Amino acid sequence: MTVKLGLVGTGTVGGGCIDILRNHRDDFKRHYGIDVELVRVCSRNPEQAIAHGVEDIFTQDFQDVLNDPDIDVVIELIGGTTVARDVVCGALRAGKHVVTANKALMATYGEEVMRLADEAGKEIAFEASVGGGIPIIDPMKHSLIANRIDSVMGIVNGTTNYMLTRMVEDGLSYDAALKEAQEKGFAEADPTADVDGFDAAAKIAILASIAFNSRVTMGEVHTEGIRNITTMDLDAARDMGYCVKLLAIAHRTDEGVDVRVHPTMLPLSHQLATVNGVFNAIYVVGDAVGETMFFGEGAGAGPAASAVMGDVLEVARHVQQGIAPIVGCTCTDELPIVPMDD
Ligand code: HSE
Repeated sequence: MTVKLGLVGTGTVGGGCIDILRNHRDDFKRHYGIDVELVRVCSRNPEQAIAHGVEDIFTQDFQDVLNDPDIDVVIELIGGTTVARDVVCGALRAGKHVVTANKALMATYGEEVMRLADEAGKEIAFEASVGGGIPIIDPMKHSLIANRIDSVMGIVNGTTNYMLTRMVEDGLSYDAALKEAQEKGFAEADPTADVDGFDAAAKIAILASIAFNSRVTMGEVHTEGIRNITTMDLDAARDMGYCVKLLAIAHRTDEGVDVRVHPTMLPLSHQLATVNGVFNAIYVVGDAVGETMFFGEGAGAGPAASAVMGDVLEVARHVQQGIAPIVGCTCTDELPIVPMDD
């Protein structure tokens, strides 16, 4: 059977997904027996649809995607927590599986979305919401599930890591470095989400919820960005043998899980100090596995689309094989969250 896809959003990541489908659809079928077809594309912007060559299946109304009885999987790539919430929740209510890259949505309304998916008996997959192309959510949910996780820590925002790298290595000003990151398509539509740490806060909230069987929302993460970091600070740190990274940290304490995002001085010898440019890296420490580190490109069309399409193909495989999703995602025995400092 052919699994029919509806895509909502034709920005950087949506365009990357269309490219992957165009280039590899035949391979998916030939190599893995997974047959997927993009049958509807919704965008506010007809010019983007024309640029991606999908004008024949284009609509400006996302309800056309949700109401199409042929569509099995809805891919939500518009971002934000307003229209995207209507798309994701509406799709689940309409009996569609959903793949999303939307960290703000999952870090704010994750509980509602999971519950709806459970009730509908549908899958909600969100690998691309953290770490761009790095597989991290799937390993945490599957390969590492036998562990008691003690800490998750990493560089999870490509824009700010790119900026800090360019500022320290090439002496760029904060503004020039931000402009470059925007031009390269790494930054959020509103880059304050990157530089003020909210993007990283959403990502660590998602990871902490999975790792600690907890329910962390981004509003519960102590968050401080890089807005006040200057090249002089970075140079002074380097003279002392340190670098400055925007770290997202979640660790188990006696009181519960402590979750925070802030610029951190790291010795230059530290593994994370070597993670530069748009690259992200996430350390996960478990009681059985010990230390693991996941590394890769954290932003940009290709890496994010790679993660989205990985989810799409996995869901499509389940649809083809008639495998029912695992329901019952509601947390039991939750670890409490350590309150933020005043
Ligand atoms: N703006 C994000 C980043 C994109 O720079 O990491 C990927 O989530």
